[in-house]
Parts: sequence; C-alpha cells; structure tokens
Amino acid sequence: MDTIIKQIMDFKKEEIPKYEANLMLGGGTPGVNLVKGENIYVYDIKGEKYLDCTSQSWALHLGYSHPEINQAVKEQIELSNHFHTGFFTVPRYLLATKIAEIFPEKMNRVMFTIGGGVSIEAALKIAIINRPDAHNFISLFGGYHGTSFMTTGASHTGTRSMGKYLGGATIAHFSQNFIRVPAPYYYRPYFEVCNKDDRDEVDRRCLQELEMQIKYGSTGPVAAMVMEPLQASGGQIIFSKNYIQGVRDICTKHNIILIWDCIQTAFGRMGDWSAANHYGVTPDIMVLGKSMGSGYPINAVVVSDDIEGVKMDGIDLHTFGNNQVSQVAALKQIEIMQRDNILDNVKKVGGYLKDELIKLQKDWPQMGDVRAVGFHIGVEFVKDPETREPDYSGVRKIREVGFKNNIIFGLGGTGKGKAVLKIKPPLITTKEQADEILEKYTKTLKEVLG
Ligand SMILES: Cc1ncc(COP(=O)(O)O)c(C=O)c1O
Repeated sequence: MDTIIKQIMDFKKEEIPKYEANLMLGGGTPGVNLVKGENIYVYDIKGEKYLDCTSQSWALHLGYSHPEINQAVKEQIELSNHFHTGFFTVPRYLLATKIAEIFPEKMNRVMFTIGGGVSIEAALKIAIINRPDAHNFISLFGGYHGTSFMTTGASHTGTRSMGKYLGGATIAHFSQNFIRVPAPYYYRPYFEVCNKDDRDEVDRRCLQELEMQIKYGSTGPVAAMVMEPLQASGGQIIFSKNYIQGVRDICTKHNIILIWDCIQTAFGRMGDWSAANHYGVTPDIMVLGKSMGSGYPINAVVVSDDIEGVKMDGIDLHTFGNNQVSQVAALKQIEIMQRDNILDNVKKVGGYLKDELIKLQKDWPQMGDVRAVGFHIGVEFVKDPETREPDYSGVRKIREVGFKNNIIFGLGGTGKGKAVLKIKPPLITTKEQADEILEKYTKTLKEVLG
C-alpha cells in the first residue's frame, strides 16, 4: 500500500484535535468523518456505514467510486493527468460533442471551466459580450450561484497593462450590478397579500415584478437574468412550466440573455438530461457542474447558436480548465447512464419516493410540503401545517438523529434558517434502497417528532 494511503487508513478519530488547528473552512454543514464510499453508501472513520441522501452535494450521480468510472480514469491517468487549456486534446472534443448531443438542439458550443461560481461568472461575461451596452443583471430571491468573487478587477487582464485593453477590461466593473426579484415560492410566497394556494397567481405576480424591475427598477439596460430552473439550495422549489416559459418570453421581449444555472439539475437528477429537456424551454446559456464528472471536478458553460461565445482574448481562462481525467469520467458517466437507462430509474424510483413521502404526511402533518421531481426531493418541515411556521430546529434535529440511524440527509432553504430536508441520493438508487431510505426516515421522524 502507498505510504500516504496507509497513513489515511491508519488514522484514528482521537488524532483529529491535533490536526484541526491547521485547517480553515469557509462554509458547509458539519457532518461525520468520512473515509470511503461504495455505491450509495459511505463509511466513517470508525467503519460505520451510512446511506448517503446527499450524493456529496449532489455530485455523485453514479454513487461512490463506480468501478467502470474508476477503470476509465485509471487508463486516462496512464496517458496523462494534465494538459493546459491552450493545447488541443481529444477528450475535450469528445465531451463537447457529447454534451451538444444530449442537450437541446440549439445548445452546441461548450467551454470547460473549473468550478460553479466561476462558470456563472463566465456566463455573465458572455452575456456582456452579447449586450455590450447593458450593465445590469437580474437574479431571483433565494437563488444560489456560488461564492466566487469577481477577480478580474484585481488582475492586469482588467487594465491596459499589455499595451491594449484585454477581454477583462470589458467586464471588470460589473460585479455589483444585480437586481433581485421574487421567485415563485408557492408554499411560502414572498408577497404579503397573496392567495397561497393559487400557484397561477404566484406565477403572475412574480412575472409582473420581473417585468416591472426591467422597465422601471433598473439603472440601465439588463444584460442577463441568471436563475436556477429549480431552486435547489433555496429549498427545493420546483417552478411551474408556466413561470419558466413566462421568464423566457420576458427575456426575449426585452433582449435579455437568459442564463440557467443547471449545476444541480443537469445530467439526470430531474429524470431528463437537463431542465431544458424537462420543460421544453431553452435558455441562451446553460451552466453545468457538480455531478458532471461523476465526482471529478469539472464545470462547463454551454451557449446557444443564437448568441456569441467567447473569443481567445483572455476573458476566461483557467489553468485546470482542460482536465482530461474529469473529462473522461464525464464521458464514461454519460455512456453508463445511456446504457443502463438511468433516467428511467430516476423517474421510476424518484416517483415512488415522492408518492410514499406524500402518504407519510398523514402521520406527520409537520411534513408541510413535499416537493419532488425525479431525485430532486425536499420536505419542508413546519410547526403547524395551518400557519406554515417553519421548523428550523426540528429539521436540524432530524438530520442529527439521521446520522445516528445511519442515514445522511441534506438541509436547504432560506429565510431565518433551513427548514427543508433534502433527500437526493445517487441516481442509481434502486427500489429496495428507496425502501431502506423510507425505513430510516420514518424511524428518525418517530424519534424526533413522535
Ligand atoms: C445551483 C448552484 N450553482 C452554483 C453552485 C456553486 O458551485 P461551486 O460550489 O462548484 O462553485 C452551486 C453549489 O452548490 C449550486 O448548487
């Protein structure tokens, strides 16, 4: 065994405090100390086994260490582990072409990047290339698009220091230009006066607000609107087709580039290759990430044929933006998903989980709202289904007791806390494993809610 791997395998829980002083974390919800995973299960440092309903921030569609992905990656590592973006390489050609094949017709040009936040920034830059006179962006209440800072303003690529203004200079000053508008959070609409049970009214009001901000609330033309087609971290909020189409129409009418942050929705979690395939509505730009590389880091920006993409002027460039290992993992994942009809499994088993969770609302009315499409599943907990008062501490406790019952849940939602329990296992989860999730879930609810 390699010396480093041996050190990892021999590591004892008691040693943690000694190492903790050297580590700095910028976020995340603390969990257990994980060492290895297999299929949809993960093991902690004491060898305890957990069923993982987070897929590690929804990144492991085929579960942990899929043997075929491992094999493809091993063979690629023998060929190379790193070529820079400036060199022309085969896996990149193959993956870009594959992505164009599985996503909607017009989405044909792909740029690879290195993280979610910076990919969203890349998409915003592309919007500015297409709308050079516009300097505002729109996003939704409760949206999440990453934590990166617009770095161009700090770099020479945003100045004239190379003797001419480079691509960076065209976007350096845009970082604060966001206008936020309400999202259709049907269970808990942002409007004080609103019929909570009329989804059409919520859609209508949100679309009206969006158009009003564009017409009267913006300090200049709007370059782009960026949104998740299903608001995930914000609480697993599934938008109606009516709202999705309405936004598309408003953006078209006002000449605004529509960017969909598909980082959590692409590659099958909704039971389709992307939200665009799911809704039958196509944005101008799609941003991909998370599960794309089956656990290997890779992101991408996909641009519609109707708009311009980037040029090679240094506007978006990353050292590790052409990682062949991740590209091979991404290609292998798509191959396996197509071969094994994984999208059908998502629809079937995800639908089963949804139906069973809805049945459980009879026993536990504190499960205020069950929101699910495919394996994108969230349960919003309330203290009282009448008042819909969110139960932030209750849902935190459910997650904690879940660890004790060998199941890992995620948390989501905005407001004063997170009131949504996320159940988003890998897409390979079988019906039997879904029953195991339900058994562990009900056991946990009994212990926490009685
Ligand atoms: C919808 C969405 N967009 C962007 C991001 C940011 O991605 P990254 O963490 O890779 O920067 C996330 C991460 O959770 C996300 O869920």
